[in-house]
Amino acid sequence: MVESEGPDVSACERCPALVESRSRIVNGVGPADAALLFVGEAPGADEDERGEPFVGRSGSVFDDALREAGLSRADVRITNCVRCRPPENRDPHAAELDNCAGFLDREIEHVDPDLIVTLGKVPGERLLDRSVAVTTEAGSVVDARLGGESRRVLVCLHPAATLYDRSQRDAFTDAVAKAADLVGAATDGSGQSRLGDY
Ligand code: URA
Repeated sequence: MVESEGPDVSACERCPALVESRSRIVNGVGPADAALLFVGEAPGADEDERGEPFVGRSGSVFDDALREAGLSRADVRITNCVRCRPPENRDPHAAELDNCAGFLDREIEHVDPDLIVTLGKVPGERLLDRSVAVTTEAGSVVDARLGGESRRVLVCLHPAATLYDRSQRDAFTDAVAKAADLVGAATDGSGQSRLGDY
């Protein structure tokens, strides 16, 4: 497994409101050669405190879905469109997404995943560069032109959506399982990921 901190954003002060609201910059985690790259929106309070994406309540929904797909965090790369916590957990502004886009682009180029999974509307629209109806499109796989390359993107709900609406849980879990399947990382039945065999 190739470990990497990803792009160095440690000195970034491009977004004044986020510099104010953040305790730290939350970079992507996971193998730098991961076949699967999950992209969320922006860190929340727990992520800001711990310095890791998806470690709060939505993170535990995400972890459950990974486990059901026979994967763990160690198998996948997890990052966000914006690396600093927005005040009051508001959505990131367009300018903040623009300011952070170069870091995500470099991370995608560096990891070179087989499949990118967008977690929620913000990353879906950002990477596909169009409006996305996440609930109806969840689980669909599309090609996107990113950094001059064609990339496979699987549209997925944000795990937090399943906290507000429990009926979305299966759609979320199924999309994560489909992602694992598409990169040949499905469980072998023992609950053990086979990603390490590649
Ligand atoms: N929501 C996100 O979009 N990203 C995180 O890291 C945590 C919650």
